[in-house]
Amino acid sequence: MTYHLPVLSTESLKLLEVNPHQIYIDATLGHGGHSQKILSLGATVYAIDQDLNNIKIAQKRLQKKIPHRFFTIHDNFSNLEKIIKDNIKTPQKIAGIIFDLGLSVNQQKSVNRGFSYNDPDSLDMRLDPLSSPLTAEMIINTYSGPELSRIFSFYAQEKLALPLSQEIIRQRQITPIKTGLRLSSIVNNFYQKRSIKTKINPSTKIFLALRIVVNQEFDNLKKALNQTLSCLPPHCRVVVISFHSGEDRLVKQFISSHFRKIKKLTTKAIKASYLEVKKNPLSRSALLRAYQIKP
Ligand SMILES: C[S@@+](CC[C@H](N)C(=O)[O-])C[C@H]1O[C@@H](n2cnc3c(N)ncnc32)[C@H](O)[C@@H]1O
Repeated sequence: MTYHLPVLSTESLKLLEVNPHQIYIDATLGHGGHSQKILSLGATVYAIDQDLNNIKIAQKRLQKKIPHRFFTIHDNFSNLEKIIKDNIKTPQKIAGIIFDLGLSVNQQKSVNRGFSYNDPDSLDMRLDPLSSPLTAEMIINTYSGPELSRIFSFYAQEKLALPLSQEIIRQRQITPIKTGLRLSSIVNNFYQKRSIKTKINPSTKIFLALRIVVNQEFDNLKKALNQTLSCLPPHCRVVVISFHSGEDRLVKQFISSHFRKIKKLTTKAIKASYLEVKKNPLSRSALLRAYQIKP
């Protein structure tokens, strides 16, 4: 199988200053790309993921090789404090945590989870279907025009949010919108009818906005960042890689508003090098910021 390529891994490892006798938390395990690098330096990793499918993939990839230093936890990182309490006996040994936000490649491309605009089967978009009943299909088929418009303009900076929402409502009255493929054809036709040319598929940002809302991604990140202040030991390093300007703004504001409790380790967001972007185009929009808990 083709595994997700970890982004900004050299930069992340450098900032985490991995020490073989310490514990690291990978808050977004995915296929375990970052975990694997930390494990290869001899440290212990507790890895969290909301998606059971990705946990299984990473376990198959890593746990057989290093069962005594690699532990997986199926949970939402917004429960960080409880996760640490329930799973780590020596929390004072936690020396770093990494958040590599967003989706892994297999999630983005899968054909039955609704994340992809080519998905002919689903418009679900939940990372953990057991955690909440709200799907993108429910949002698209039941939210009012102003509610849809707010989501598209706030999370996707969509300039045509209101008329696009009206078009979606018109289409759902004809037949409910149940797949990624149908939603993307509505969005793309809407753009084509207005002869608007865009560099990237106009559905990309609409799908991103829906995914953020379905999975409460901004709220989860805020909760987790706040908990890093209370449940991580002094000197612990925190690395956050985001892929959305709103998410990066949230991290930036968090770091500057807690300057008494944390030390900034990055003055500006670190971006992927030209070579990394060439090798892995998904790294193009990655923004890395890091901080350290003050004693
Ligand atoms: C970009 S991928 C991580 C890729 C990973 N670093 C690697 O190298 O394979 C993001 C992962 O985080 C998970 N995730 C996203 N939000 C989460 C949350 N709130 N709690 C736990 N896991 C989450 C996703 O399910 C996905 O597997």
